[in-house]
Amino acid sequence: MPLNLSGKAMLAGVMGHPVAHSLSPRLHNYWIAQAGLDAVYIPLAVSPEEVREAFRLLPKMGFRGWNVTVPHKETAFQQVDIRSESAIATGAVNTVYVQEDGSLRGDNTDIYGFISNLKSQAGDLSPYRARALIIGAGGAARAVAQGLHQEGFSEIIIVNRTMSRAEALSASMPHANPRPLAWEKLPHALEETALLVNTTTLGMQGHPPLDVPLEALPKSALVADIVYTPLMTPLLSAAKARGNPIVTGLGMLIHQAIPGFQGWFGVTPAPDKGLEVFLLTDT
Ligand code: ATR
Repeated sequence: MPLNLSGKAMLAGVMGHPVAHSLSPRLHNYWIAQAGLDAVYIPLAVSPEEVREAFRLLPKMGFRGWNVTVPHKETAFQQVDIRSESAIATGAVNTVYVQEDGSLRGDNTDIYGFISNLKSQAGDLSPYRARALIIGAGGAARAVAQGLHQEGFSEIIIVNRTMSRAEALSASMPHANPRPLAWEKLPHALEETALLVNTTTLGMQGHPPLDVPLEALPKSALVADIVYTPLMTPLLSAAKARGNPIVTGLGMLIHQAIPGFQGWFGVTPAPDKGLEVFLLTDT
């Protein structure tokens, strides 16, 4: 089936540096084909020095909006005219909408993506709304902590190899009030944990595994990983083997993409069981 684009095709994309690794073009164009839209979503390789200019020119070129990935999410926050509550809560924008008057609205859909994926795989979160332990202190940890705070988790702990980053992240989120904890205290803190989330790159292809002894973790605790290459990370395999419920990471990417797709193209993507396999299959 040839690509069927007219001169009126709706345009969107993902801006990153680098952007070659991004799965977002495959994801959005899968949904575009499925819905039979006259639209296209392209990778936009933009260096840090060129982000401002790109933000100025893309609306003039007819783009309806775009996603923003590493390392531009904080710059994007500065460049938009209006920011959603989620964007303000994280100081980062991953989804931009060009409004009718040409102004830019910025949102952060990572929070929604994480929580929505958690609920779609684990169901009701009530049994887990006690201690949540987040491993890592980067941008992903911030979105996860914010989401769990909004979902009413009573205690949020952030454990990170570099303690000062965990402390800085906690201090910058006084409303959510996450507690920083030293890496060495992780095994002990697992005892009372109801939800364990890895937000580090550990366990990703080409990275060492996240080596946490799970003995102290209750068997009822939910274990989530935001790494999705591979889908079954060593952490998730170990958790599953001992009977813990698990949540895989690719759904977060899929769920965070839905608001942008809806906003730009006016269509809600249909749930599709083949999508994860398609995204993880090498081209
Ligand atoms: P992002 O913004 O996508 O979350 P990041 O800011 O690079 O990415 O954060 C990566 C996380 O993985 C950090 O928490 C990092 O810990 P440090 O703050 O100590 O660097 C964590 N990480 C990466 N490699 C690690 C390793 N070998 N051991 C422990 N933590 C690691």
